Amino acid sequence: MNTVKTVRELRAAVAQARAEGKQVGFVPTMGNLHAGHAALVEKAAQRVDFVVASIFVNPLQFGAGEDLDKYPRTLVADQERLLAAGCQLLFTPSVEEMYPEGMTGQTRVSVQGVSEGLCGASRPGHFEGVATVVTKLFNMVQPDLAIFGEKDFQQLAVIRTLVRDLNMPIQVIGEPTVRAADGLALSSRNGYLSAEQRALAPVLYQTLAQIGDALQVGGRDFVALLSAARKRIEAAGLRLDYLEIREAESLRQATALDHNLVILVAAYLGNTRLIDNLSVTLAANA
Ligand code: PAF
Repeated sequence: MNTVKTVRELRAAVAQARAEGKQVGFVPTMGNLHAGHAALVEKAAQRVDFVVASIFVNPLQFGAGEDLDKYPRTLVADQERLLAAGCQLLFTPSVEEMYPEGMTGQTRVSVQGVSEGLCGASRPGHFEGVATVVTKLFNMVQPDLAIFGEKDFQQLAVIRTLVRDLNMPIQVIGEPTVRAADGLALSSRNGYLSAEQRALAPVLYQTLAQIGDALQVGGRDFVALLSAARKRIEAAGLRLDYLEIREAESLRQATALDHNLVILVAAYLGNTRLIDNLSVTLAANA
C-alpha cells in the first residue's frame, strides 16, 4: 500500500490504476480506524480492484469547543489496518493541501433538507463541512464508488443527496454499522469513554432495539414510545441530545403511515457525544 500526501501524487497513482483498466473505490475517513472502517475497505475491495482510502481530520466540520484537537491520530496502526483490509492507496493530506487558500474563503457545499435537524441542529455548520470536504475528495480521487458507514446515517443521506444533486458519477454505498458484542456501535469516539461510561453506553442500542421491537409488533404511538425511551436513556445517566423516529429516505418526521423508518439517537456520556441509529422496515400490512 502506497501512502501519498499531495493531490498531485494521488491523481498520478489513480491515473496509473485507471490506465491498467482498474475500477476505483474510495473510503474517506478521519483515521483512528476500527473494525467498522476495515469492513468498508473490505467491501470496496470485493467490488473494485483499486481501493483508495483517505485519512483527514477535517477542521471545517468541527464546531468551536468540539474535539478537533484531541481527535486521535494513529497513522501507523491505521496503515496496518488498511493494508490488511485490502487498501492499495492511502491519501493523508495536510490541512494546507486540502485548503491551500485557507478555510475562510473556501467555497462551501450546502445540502438542503436532509442536513437540517438532528445532528444538523446540534452541530451548526457540521454537514456543510462534511459536504465540502467530501466533494473536494471526490473531485480529487474521482472514484467509481464510495463507501460510508450507516452509523452516520444523516451524513450518508447528505452525501447521497449531494452526489445526486451535483450529478456526480459516483455510486454511494452504505455499509451496516459494526457493533461490539454488547451492541455499542463502533466509533473512534468510544475511546474517550472511561470504563464506567463504556459500561453504560450500550443502553443506546438496547433502547433503539426496544423501540424497533415495539414498532414491529404494531406500536404507532411514537410520542409514547419515545417518551419511555428517553426516560430509560436518561435514567442510565446519559444526557440526551435527540431521539427521533424519521422516514428513512427523506429524514422527514415519520408518520404512522410510513413503513421505512429509522430511529436516530444522539446522547452525551460526560463530554463524549455518541450517535447511533436503527432502521426498521415494517411489512406493508403492519
Ligand atoms: O465520517 C467521517 O469520518 C467524516 O465525516 C468524513 C466522511 C471522512 C468526512 O470528513
